[in-house]
Amino acid sequence: MKITVYGAGYVGLVAAACFAEAGHEVLTVDPNPERLQALQQGRVPFVEAGLDALVAKGVASGKLTFSGDPEVAASHGTMHVLAVGTPSSADGSTDESQLISVAHAIGRGAANNVIVVVKSTAPVGAAERVLDEVRHEFSLRAVPYAAQVVVNPEFLRAGSSVKDFLEPDRVVVGGDDADSVATVASLYASFVPPEKILRMDAASAALVKYAANAMLATRISFMNELANLAEAVGADVAEVQRGIGADPRIGKEYLQPGMGYGGSCLPKDVASLISVGEVAGVTMGVARAVAEVNSVQAHRITEKLERHLGDLAGRTVAVWGIAFKAGTDDMRDAPSHILIQDLVDAGAKVQAFDPAAGEAARRHYAAEKDVTVVGTAAEATQGADALVIAADWPEFRSASPSELAGTLSERVVVDGRNLFDPAAMAAAGITYSGIGRGES
Ligand SMILES: NC(=O)c1ccc[n+]([C@@H]2O[C@H](COP(=O)([O-])OP(=O)(O)OC[C@H]3O[C@@H](n4cnc5c(N)ncnc54)[C@H](O)[C@@H]3O)[C@@H](O)[C@H]2O)c1
Repeated sequence: MKITVYGAGYVGLVAAACFAEAGHEVLTVDPNPERLQALQQGRVPFVEAGLDALVAKGVASGKLTFSGDPEVAASHGTMHVLAVGTPSSADGSTDESQLISVAHAIGRGAANNVIVVVKSTAPVGAAERVLDEVRHEFSLRAVPYAAQVVVNPEFLRAGSSVKDFLEPDRVVVGGDDADSVATVASLYASFVPPEKILRMDAASAALVKYAANAMLATRISFMNELANLAEAVGADVAEVQRGIGADPRIGKEYLQPGMGYGGSCLPKDVASLISVGEVAGVTMGVARAVAEVNSVQAHRITEKLERHLGDLAGRTVAVWGIAFKAGTDDMRDAPSHILIQDLVDAGAKVQAFDPAAGEAARRHYAAEKDVTVVGTAAEATQGADALVIAADWPEFRSASPSELAGTLSERVVVDGRNLFDPAAMAAAGITYSGIGRGES
C-alpha cells in the first residue's frame, strides 16, 4: 500500500519505518528542516533503540522516503497517517492546529480517494473535524474524491518504540466506515495476530488512548501519595509495592514511585481528559487529583536536599538524568526541569548529566549560567555537595557508594528513582534519601 505519514517524530518515524519494514511504500513528511535534513543525510534525529537500523533498511530498499512539503506529499498515497503533535493549550485543552493543517494539505494535494488515519493522540471529535476539513478542500477543488477517517491511537513507549510497534499488546482501529477500518486493520495484519486488532467506533478508539494514559498516571500518582505516607509513618514503599504487585488484579507494572510522571504524553493527556470532561459536563475528579498529586512531587526533592544541607544558596548539586526517563532523549515535561528550576531558584549551582539527552539539554540550558550540562556522570559529581538521581538509567545503578562518598563533599544522595539500596548507601557513610523509604 502507498502510505503518507505526516510527522517524522517519536511516533511518526517509528510507524513509517515499521510500515516500510512490512513492505509498504511509505513517504514521511515533516516541515521541520532539522529533522528532514538529518533524515535525508541518513541520521535519525533523536534517540530510539533499533530505529537507526530500521530507517536505514527502509531507505536502502526504497520503501521509505522523505519530503518537506505536506501538500506535495499528499499526492503519494491513499492512506494518510497523521502523527503530528497535539500539544496542550494553556487551558489544558488539546491544540489541534497541526492536525487541521495536515487536513488542509491532504485536501489540497491528494490525487485520489483517501483514508485519513489519526494516529496522533486527539480528543473525541478531532477525527471528524479533520475529515470535514479534507472534504471541504476537496469541494473547493471540485474533485470527486471520497474521504474517510479512522482513529488508530498509538501506545508505544519511548525507549522501546520499535518493539512496541512491531509486537503490540493491541492495535485499536476505530471508525464508522467498516471498509476503511478493515483497510487500516490490514496494515498491521502481517505482524499483529488478528485477535490483537481491536475494532470499534471512532469515539471509543479516541477515548481508549486517554483512558490508558490516565490509568497509568493514576497508578503513578497513587504510588507517589503512598510513598509520602510511607515516609511519614515509617514504612518502606518498596515493600508495599512488592506486596500489592503480587496481587494479579493489581499487577507489578507502573507501581514505581518517583519524581512524578513526565514526558510528552501523560501530563498533556491527563490535562486533555479533564478538559474534555469539562466540555462534556462531566467532572473528572480522579484525573484532577492525579494531576494535583503529580504537580507537587518533583518539588519534594529540593525539600529533601534542604533538610540535609540547609540553605542551598552557593551549594553545588549533581543531577543524574535529564530526559523524562531512561532510554530516550525526550525532555518534554521531564520532572528534572522542575527540580533544576527549584535548585536555581534556591541559589544552587547544578551540574547535570544525561546519557542520551546531553546535547539537547545543553541547548535547553544554554542561557542558564548556574546550570552546566556535563559529559559524564563522574564530571557531574566532581566538586558537588550532593547528588540527585532524576532518571532511571540502568548505568546509574552500578555507581559505587564508596566512590560517591569520596566525591560528594556533603555525602548526600537524594534518589528520586529508588535505584539504590539504602543499606549499601548507609554503609558507605552516605546520607541517603529515596522516595517513600525513610532516610539514612
Ligand atoms: N512520544 C510518544 O511516546 C507518543 C506515544 C503515543 C502517542 N503519542 C502521540 O503521537 C503524536 C506525535 O507525538 P511525537 O512524540 O511523535 O511528536 P513529535 O513532536 O516528536 O513529532 C511531531 C512531528 O510533526 C511534525 N509536523 C508538524 N506539523 C506538521 C505538518 N503539517 N505536516 C507534517 N508534519 C508536521 C513536527 O515537525 C514534528 O517533527 C502526539 O499526538 C502524541 O501525543 C506520542
